[in-house]
Amino acid sequence: MRAVAGVDVTIHQGEFVALVGANGSGKSTLARLSNGLLLPTEGTVRVAGQSTAEAGALWEIRRRVGIVWQDPDNQLVAGTVEEDVAFGPENLGLPPEEISRRVERALHLVGLQSLRERPVHTLSGGQKQLVAIAGVLAMEPDAVILDEATAMLDPNSRRQVLAIAQRLAVEQRVAVVMITHHMDEAAVAGRVIALAGGRVVFDGPPAGLLADTALLQRIGLDVPPLVLIARRLREAGVDVPLVCPQVENLADHLCRLS
Ligand SMILES: Nc1ncnc2c1ncn2[C@@H]1O[C@H](COP(=O)(O)OP(=O)(O)OP(=O)(O)O)[C@@H](O)[C@H]1O
Ligand SMILES: [Mg+2]
Repeated sequence: MRAVAGVDVTIHQGEFVALVGANGSGKSTLARLSNGLLLPTEGTVRVAGQSTAEAGALWEIRRRVGIVWQDPDNQLVAGTVEEDVAFGPENLGLPPEEISRRVERALHLVGLQSLRERPVHTLSGGQKQLVAIAGVLAMEPDAVILDEATAMLDPNSRRQVLAIAQRLAVEQRVAVVMITHHMDEAAVAGRVIALAGGRVVFDGPPAGLLADTALLQRIGLDVPPLVLIARRLREAGVDVPLVCPQVENLADHLCRLS
């Protein structure tokens, strides 16, 4: 049996893509394929034009495509925040001033400058995940994949990670792929790719997927509560959009109506 098959997608710089699908639908397999942790038995995975199967391409591809996993404890090397973020660039053999510049920039992007000297083990789960993201950013990647990186976090940290992911795409032109089970996170992406049984069953704007209740049910995804509320309102003749990124946006629409 194949974990993924017939997948034909291209993700561009600056895109913010949510990758969704039920357990075992192939999301993590796709993440692993995209930076050469797994090689395809058939077909080709290209990063910046280079096949992951090309001899000698892996180092460069792994630098270009960073992955943040679910559990930050599995991806931090310990020591202080600063040391952790510097670990990747140090392994690239960069000069010290370039390492400092990258660490500075990465800490700034995730808003952790004030915690730079803290030992990582004293941080909260959410803060650790931000360190893991900074570690990936210090490699100056073209793409960042967050594989359920918010799954273990409290709602506040989840929002923080989501906001950083969005900013990376919009402001830094990084291609960001957010793998998530939270359909409310997918709702704010520019594009959603849904997998079922290793195949792409939807690829388009989030509103298109969220409006298709039959498809969501068939592939085992929840309809976000905000969409359920909007649907009820629409059924009752209230003119609101079916998909609002945040509850505040729905509230704004309602206020304008009254
Ligand atoms: N190392 C492995 N060896 C064999 N089969 C695997 C391996 N890893 C995953 N699979 C299988 O590949 C398929 C896709 O798994 P994958 O982990 O990519 O799904 P996922 O969408 O990330 O699921 P989840 O939401 O649970 O993380 C599943 O059928 C899974 O059982
Ligand atoms: Mg997975």
